[in-house]
Amino acid sequence: MSRPELQAPPEIYYGDTEAKKYTKNTRNQQIQADMTYRALELLNLTPDEPAFLLDIGCGSGLSGEILDEEGYIWAGVDIAPSMLEVALEREVEGDLFLQDIGQGFGFRPGSFDGAISVSVLQWLLNAETSHPTSSPPHRLNRFFTTLHSALRNPSRAVFQFYPSSDDQIQLITSIAQKAGFGGGVVIDYPNSNKARKVFLCLYVGGGGGQQQQIPQALDGDVIEDGKVRFERRRARDLRKDNNGKRKSQKVVDRDWILRKKELYRKRGKESVPRDSKFTGRKRKPVF
Ligand SMILES: C[S@@+](CC[C@H](N)C(=O)[O-])C[C@H]1O[C@@H](n2cnc3c(N)ncnc32)[C@H](O)[C@@H]1O
Repeated sequence: MSRPELQAPPEIYYGDTEAKKYTKNTRNQQIQADMTYRALELLNLTPDEPAFLLDIGCGSGLSGEILDEEGYIWAGVDIAPSMLEVALEREVEGDLFLQDIGQGFGFRPGSFDGAISVSVLQWLLNAETSHPTSSPPHRLNRFFTTLHSALRNPSRAVFQFYPSSDDQIQLITSIAQKAGFGGGVVIDYPNSNKARKVFLCLYVGGGGGQQQQIPQALDGDVIEDGKVRFERRRARDLRKDNNGKRKSQKVVDRDWILRKKELYRKRGKESVPRDSKFTGRKRKPVF
């Protein structure tokens, strides 16, 4: 069987107008959301346990708002001020950092319970200048080494990305392994030109869960226009509010608030209100 061509990476968006256009485009919203759900599935976090995640190349928050919807606490980093500006306007819940990931992270060791990255990693394959420290291997090495330290043990980092050749996959995987990660590559729908998606699933200390094997790729029905059926994807309510932002599906009850406060305390956040019998109690409307 002939191998389909690898997909071309999407455009990178830096201008204000492009950042807004990218974010408002409903097709982009749907594609980024689908890939984020799949990345979360591959992350294999314990259900109903709060987790603090890093969204690498968070952009305008299309991936981040799925993290909000799923009830995760998150921080996002991105190199483009225009994209972060849109994320701020859209009032995503994550803390946002302006940063070139090729320079590496300065987060405290073990800060995150996991990381996702949607449509970003291929950009690290571009040399920024001709200086040796800006070569792709050098940048990838700094990125993976500091990411490994920022993740707790055990945990996972899942990247959907658009490599332009198998050599690129090989280069990225080998540098990640040298930085201490286990894991490997999962290719969903490998025989479909449109639905094919490459995910790099990296494990710190075995990656959590029972098995250390690479998760199974999807290879089910591909329906028209390259859209796929995600077998294990729950039915999602795609209602949007007036800003085009998804409405959260999470149930904010007393238990959820207590868990989230506990997580904030563990993360060293100051001024978390103490728990009391009033925590999570619905206020009466004031007229
Ligand atoms: C296609 S967008 C995806 C954004 C977001 N993850 C989403 O799902 O909508 C790719 C993002 O990667 C960011 N990016 C590219 N190179 C980067 C780098 N070296 N450091 C940090 N972010 C980078 C871009 O600024 C852009 O916001």
